[in-house]
Amino acid sequence: MKYWTKLSHKEQDEIITLALGENIDYKQKVSLGIPASQLDPNVFYDQASFLKDSPLLRAYIQNPNHIGCHTLGDSELFFAGTQKLEQQVIELISVDMFKAAPLSCDGYIAAGGTEANIQAMWMYRNLFMQQFGAQLQEIALISSTDTHYSVVKGANLLSLRSFSVPTDDESKELNEVRLDQIIKSAKRQGVKYFIVIANMGTTMFGSVDDPMVYVDALNRNEVRFRIHIDAAFGGFVYPISHPENVFNFSNPYISSVTLDAHKMLQAPYGTGIFLARKNQMQYVFTKEASYVNGMDITLCGSRSGANAIAVWMIMHTYGPYGWLEKINKLIYRTDCCCAELDKMGVPYYRHPKMNIVTMRAEYIANELADKYGLVPDTHHGMPNWYKIVVMDHVELNHIMAFTQELAESLQEATV
Ligand SMILES: Cc1ncc(COP(=O)(O)O)c(C=O)c1O
Repeated sequence: MKYWTKLSHKEQDEIITLALGENIDYKQKVSLGIPASQLDPNVFYDQASFLKDSPLLRAYIQNPNHIGCHTLGDSELFFAGTQKLEQQVIELISVDMFKAAPLSCDGYIAAGGTEANIQAMWMYRNLFMQQFGAQLQEIALISSTDTHYSVVKGANLLSLRSFSVPTDDESKELNEVRLDQIIKSAKRQGVKYFIVIANMGTTMFGSVDDPMVYVDALNRNEVRFRIHIDAAFGGFVYPISHPENVFNFSNPYISSVTLDAHKMLQAPYGTGIFLARKNQMQYVFTKEASYVNGMDITLCGSRSGANAIAVWMIMHTYGPYGWLEKINKLIYRTDCCCAELDKMGVPYYRHPKMNIVTMRAEYIANELADKYGLVPDTHHGMPNWYKIVVMDHVELNHIMAFTQELAESLQEATV
């Protein structure tokens, strides 16, 4: 690990206090032009005694705006202290989790996985247009049928065509024959450039697409493409549970990644992460953003610096070994759940390195699904699947209570 260390609360407090001290202090410095201030002290009491023990709450009160991207070019000087923590955590995740060479990636804390995915699509659409003179109708998105709907949203916003590759009903692997047919058909319709969204943990199944399947098919068909990994769910799991994987920046075909800190990392909502190899983000530069100091190259404008600090704190509270232990605990619980389902012959999908178990719905009584808060694949009509996501709060005794009741309900059904 190059950057990822475990830090005590005291060490973190000192670093964050120093960073907050380098940001603007509205009480000390006259600043007539900036349309920002700390949180309203009439509403959010800033003298509460517990604040001294909580650097994150102090950051919320101070309310730094991390508008822009802090891994390249200039940034707003008012918030330079905490921007450095964001820069550090982007570098840490790129290098120590996603195997980038040091200082080879840009990135920022986005509002969530949706924004980070759309940022990638926007960036590649513009890259193809500006670098290769592509016309809009010559660019298309391609992803699997299990892909998150943010891709459809992005296609709609960016006026991009979108192609969906079916996956096998049991293995959830991409159907390579259909993929090839879809690329050929898209080419006949004039598509020359593809933006691939490959999943590292689909929303419903936790399945992981092999991006090399896309690489082989697209190369065979002699088209240009870029690959974005949607690791919104799996980004803090799969690189840890399967460290030898190459679905990261060590693979020259992978150009950008989405992660969500507000999922597995249990950060506050509004905390997605966008990572991209250098020399790509400038394709979404909005030059009209002249009142912002630095390059406006992110989809959102103003955003809370406190969210970046939250990610920084979580990473440094656990350190690499603490996080490894946590993920292994969740994988162990998931293994136990699957072992129980195997005993009673309930069919399910589970990627062996992920913490999602998705069971065939016909085996699950409605009352059981309601009682245990299982999530169906659809809320419109009869579901085909129900999933269990083994988060931190999903303990082994909950899993065992569920599987026992499931075994009883199946026995009753056969009597
Ligand atoms: C794989 C995947 N990508 C993207 C998203 C969108 O994330 P968000 O809700 O943070 O915008 C989700 C959310 O569930 C997801 O599971």
